[in-house]
Amino acid sequence: MTIHGELEKFYTERCDEASRLGSSVKGRLELARVRELLCRYLPEPPARVADIGGGPGVHAQWLRSDGYDVELLDPVPHHVEQAGAAGIPAVLGDARKLPWEDEEFDAAFLAGPMYHLVEAADRRTALREAVRVTKYGGFVAVVAINRTANLVGSTMANNLIERRGVVADILRDGFSARNERLAQATYHTVAQLRSELTGAGLRAVSVHGLTGPGGWLTVMIDSHYNGLPLPDTLREPDPLQTALECARLADRHPEMVQSSSLLFGIGQRD
Ligand SMILES: C[S@@+](CC[C@H](N)C(=O)[O-])C[C@H]1O[C@@H](n2cnc3c(N)ncnc32)[C@H](O)[C@@H]1O
Repeated sequence: MTIHGELEKFYTERCDEASRLGSSVKGRLELARVRELLCRYLPEPPARVADIGGGPGVHAQWLRSDGYDVELLDPVPHHVEQAGAAGIPAVLGDARKLPWEDEEFDAAFLAGPMYHLVEAADRRTALREAVRVTKYGGFVAVVAINRTANLVGSTMANNLIERRGVVADILRDGFSARNERLAQATYHTVAQLRSELTGAGLRAVSVHGLTGPGGWLTVMIDSHYNGLPLPDTLREPDPLQTALECARLADRHPEMVQSSSLLFGIGQRD
């Protein structure tokens, strides 16, 4: 089983995954929300957590400093080296064939495989593997990209007309072979994500808006100011706190999950 060459090239040459969650307001929002949502469901430390598609280990690091016993797996050698250098037990591998025994973990977290595996059968295999290595009653959590995210994002960047074909493909199929940013990516509807998690044998499935409607405020700030000083009206209060509050408030209203660019799905092994 090999990973697409494009994926390795993307994460080795084009995207610095180690700094992504710390170098932008959007990244900091994602990090804070993953942390608060995971902590809502995880058992107390020192529970064992599998970080599948964990990249260089940004989430594994805070999990470990909170006392969790984390093992990370990723198919990109550069990520596994970075995670290892940060002291995280890390192994090169693929979510579709985990190197671990049945029920080794109290929880499994997949922030990557759900949007990088474009074939439904591959996502099914990855989810079943995550369920297999999780104890009965343990949680499997995933991050997915909302199918509407490209439409709103391209509109806000004012390049929708230029990207219209790609955006239309994604809205229709959840995928576009013409996606110049990253062809190897798939985009979920909320219903589809729920059904994939339920189909893998998880119960009590919840889908949260990870970044919420306020995530679009962070996108706007990152793209317009990109390190420039913010005007007074955007500096106080901290826009990250505004976006966080917005994500939390919106999450109480299931219809607003649809407005989040990132989705956080979680269910319990039956
Ligand atoms: C955007 S990064 C996210 C990294 C980390 N989970 C985070 O949230 O910061 C997506 C990750 O998914 C990994 N990935 C892609 N396809 C995968 C697969 N088939 N199995 C496991 N991981 C995969 C990539 O190598 C990459 O590290």
